[in-house]
Amino acid sequence: MLQRGLKGVIAAETAIAHVDGEKGKLIYRGYEISEITSKYNFEETAYLLWYGKLPTAEQATKLKEQLVHNRTLSDYQMEVLKLLPKDMNMMSVLRTIISAEGNQSYQWPPTIDEAIRLTSITPLIIAFRKRLMENLDIVQPNKHLNHVANYLYMLTGKKPAEAHVNALETYMILTMEHGMNASTFAARVAASTESEIISAITSAIGTMKGPLHGGAPAEVIHLLDEIKADGNTQRVLKEKITRGEKLMGFGHRIYKTVDPRSVALKEKLIAFAGSDEWLDLSIEVEEIGIQLLEELKPGRSLYTNVEFYAAAIMKAIEMDKQLFTPTFTASRMVGWTAHVLEQAENNVIFRPQSAYIGQYNMNI
Ligand code: ACO
Repeated sequence: MLQRGLKGVIAAETAIAHVDGEKGKLIYRGYEISEITSKYNFEETAYLLWYGKLPTAEQATKLKEQLVHNRTLSDYQMEVLKLLPKDMNMMSVLRTIISAEGNQSYQWPPTIDEAIRLTSITPLIIAFRKRLMENLDIVQPNKHLNHVANYLYMLTGKKPAEAHVNALETYMILTMEHGMNASTFAARVAASTESEIISAITSAIGTMKGPLHGGAPAEVIHLLDEIKADGNTQRVLKEKITRGEKLMGFGHRIYKTVDPRSVALKEKLIAFAGSDEWLDLSIEVEEIGIQLLEELKPGRSLYTNVEFYAAAIMKAIEMDKQLFTPTFTASRMVGWTAHVLEQAENNVIFRPQSAYIGQYNMNI
């Protein structure tokens, strides 16, 4: 039977994460996401996803050292980074420089060391390229800073405020992994051919780039900007829904109730930003948006998704709009690589079928 978009189709078994769309729960390796964001940092959560258990203090330190040790690009990658056209989208830059990582040392089957290296270099590529494009000196990584703090440091050249690190780290943990989403599926499909991890990850990055997946937070900012300029939230949202447009940051393929990541980010934002015009506007847009969607699209169960409050978090920490999706990529790198490793453990090539609806110009 045809399932457009593979809706509802179970395509693989996984022990990495469980997304319960009915109850609005997200579980990483048996732990609820709210427990993880309140107790563990980026490195510890990455360890949990890759190794299947929480690290001891010694294991966490070792992983941190490995991530620090890998914070370097080859001369060749630096050359390519400088040569790429100035107007190239950062996601395309990431896809290209990660592709340039793929030398002969990357072979099937994938390894955790490869996953660690890819996770380590992603923020580096983003920060280096951003500064190059702004004719600023590159800021070399600071080995004393953790993964998330170092990312902000390399972008700005200043030691980041603890509140900013904390907000971004929450976002990056919440978006590290999310079951069989489009980009993770793309990674697993590529890996299932026994291609090396670089090919799997470049497939995932290309998939993440689209506005219906990773491109949403920048679109949420456009929506908020438009509403702010108009001054009438109800009218703008109603007109959009009536025209058949999708409200960016609303709806989810799996969650048919509130996305728990959206709730966690909203809470973090309230704690961190207090009263902020973007936060206030976001809350208003969420309330009115849900009401209108219920009225105009009854029965579709449309609520805000993780990207909705991600936009406000990014705005509050003064993250440039063009870095939203690349930052999402930097966190999802952990989930993608965990899935590639899992695919390799018990590999079967993905090969669904299609229903032919074309002509037959012969007798059959
Ligand atoms: N605004 C208005 N209507 C919507 C929205 C929305 N954001 N999302 C879904 N709908 C409506 C559709 O128009 C459709 O209505 P219909 O029955 O009258 O045709 C119905 O709800 C079902 O929509 P689908 O697109 O079939 O739902 P699906 O589960 O395939 O899509 C998706 C999920 C792609 C996330 C969708 O809700 C969407 O495009 N949202 C906006 C983009 C966005 O925020 N993306 C980020 C997702 S989170 C992430 O990727 C990390």
